[in-house]
Amino acid sequence: MAFAIPSPFVWDQSFDVKNKALNAEHVRLFQLIDALDKNRDSAAALKELLDLVVAHFKHEENLFNEKHYSDAVAHKATHDKLLTDVAAVKSIGDGEIAFLKNWLVNHIKGSDQKYSDALHD
Ligand code: FEO
Repeated sequence: MAFAIPSPFVWDQSFDVKNKALNAEHVRLFQLIDALDKNRDSAAALKELLDLVVAHFKHEENLFNEKHYSDAVAHKATHDKLLTDVAAVKSIGDGEIAFLKNWLVNHIKGSDQKYSDALHD
């Protein structure tokens, strides 16, 4: 299922996963994708985004282990696939920005929100 991409690209309550720290990271991911969109040639902007993506995935996956989340393996596979896909990115253009925005929106609404009941504060 495809979800609407917010424009401007900003987190809103419809992305709530009932965990403050994870919501805060998602807010920041929206901001960093938007920043990269506005500064596409910036290696620093791309690095900042990718560093947070890696840290955020690790955070979720650690919580999955801690809480014995039942869908952990499948969810981690979607994280790993994204990391493989972004590793192949050589430059940032319209296609890459659309891909990142689509991925974040659909991942939060299609996968992350499924852990809300297991990982909520
Ligand atoms: Fe919030 Fe599964 O990434």
